[in-house]
Amino acid sequence: MRTLIAGVDGYLGWALALRLLSKGHEVIGVDNFYTRKAVKEVGSDSALPIGSFHQRVRGLPKDKFSKIAFYNVDVTDYKRLKKVISKYKPDSIVDFAEQRSAPYSMRSRSTAAYTLSNNIVGTLNFIYAIKEINKKIHFLKMGTMGEYGTPNFDIPESTFVEATINGKSDRIITPKNAGSWYHWSKVYDTDNLIFANKVWGLTMTDIMQGPVYGTRTNDITSEALFTRFDFDETWGTVLNRYCVEAVLGVPLTPYGSGGQTRAFLSLEDSVTALSLLLENPPPDGGYRTVNQFTETYSVMELAKLVRDKASSLGLNVEIKSVDNPRVEAEKHYYNPERKVLPALGLKGPTKNLKDEVEIMIKDLLPYKSRLEKHKDVIAPKTNWRA
Ligand SMILES: NC(=O)c1ccc[n+]([C@@H]2O[C@H](COP(=O)([O-])OP(=O)(O)OC[C@H]3O[C@@H](n4cnc5c(N)ncnc54)[C@H](O)[C@@H]3O)[C@@H](O)[C@H]2O)c1
Repeated sequence: MRTLIAGVDGYLGWALALRLLSKGHEVIGVDNFYTRKAVKEVGSDSALPIGSFHQRVRGLPKDKFSKIAFYNVDVTDYKRLKKVISKYKPDSIVDFAEQRSAPYSMRSRSTAAYTLSNNIVGTLNFIYAIKEINKKIHFLKMGTMGEYGTPNFDIPESTFVEATINGKSDRIITPKNAGSWYHWSKVYDTDNLIFANKVWGLTMTDIMQGPVYGTRTNDITSEALFTRFDFDETWGTVLNRYCVEAVLGVPLTPYGSGGQTRAFLSLEDSVTALSLLLENPPPDGGYRTVNQFTETYSVMELAKLVRDKASSLGLNVEIKSVDNPRVEAEKHYYNPERKVLPALGLKGPTKNLKDEVEIMIKDLLPYKSRLEKHKDVIAPKTNWRA
């Protein structure tokens, strides 16, 4: 299988590239290094050291990973993007190449505008390139469980649902209710994908993924193979951020009362899920919505779990809730459906979350002095109401 990964230099992109290469698949990577620059801009850095992309590729053990081609291309540049896709004619394209921080998108008009244009135009460019080059390319678009919000009904894993209004029924796109400009950009992407599938019969997998945690996959076995790991308020996701807080010995900081429940999965399970979806595409012209997660937890449950695990490792940390900077329900119903991935073989989490947290803390401890330099950028500053 030949796969183009857009956003290959990122947290998920690099980890997926390693998985596909280790399975003997061919990978073409595209990235414009936006995340590296944007994380530096907020005064932070990846917790785990990563070399330049070329250093990373040079560090790949030749006996385990096949070769990877790479292009420094901005996916909003249609001409250059189309040239790469035309040259390689991949079987599948995975699109991770988006601005992926909710707080960043909420900071100002210009960060909102950048998020919406980068994400929506990038996805539209893939749609057009696939339509013009080969309609059979399987397009895997990485969206988010945050597209649904937290409705007071079970979240179906389907593209459409039946709705009845004033006694008359029809099929409507599964309701979405996002919580930031970033999350809305993913909803707009989804609508554009559904439309492109309808008019041109493109083959799509639209993934609604929950927050990912973890420092490792089974392929990441040495420092040279690390993927990036962000922990600041803008770029870090909740469990990754807690683990850094535990290593630094500062309080774990759930936002508000901490009852916000989300659907999580480990980095290992994320790349396993993606490989399964790539190796088992929908039929030509098919459209598949996938809820990609393994377990649900509230952010307070996760804080307690990290505190207890840290304490068993001799690190004493407390939990100190901070004012919630976001506009979101802190107590709500949450029950997303999950059937596509279990049917393909990913039944539940591969590793117990407590064990994964232990691995993360142990992986981060050697880099404590590196983390100390960025201690000030962990507390939330971006206020949704401002
Ligand atoms: N990490 C998570 O917990 C999580 C959860 C749900 C969804 N997602 C989604 O998965 C995708 C990957 O997330 P990640 O955590 O690996 O993020 P990341 O920021 O580490 O990776 C994204 C990569 O895309 C690149 N990129 C951004 N805009 C680009 C452009 N215009 N042209 C070329 N490259 C561009 C960045 O430089 C970066 O290397 C994102 O779309 C994100 O929204 C992530």
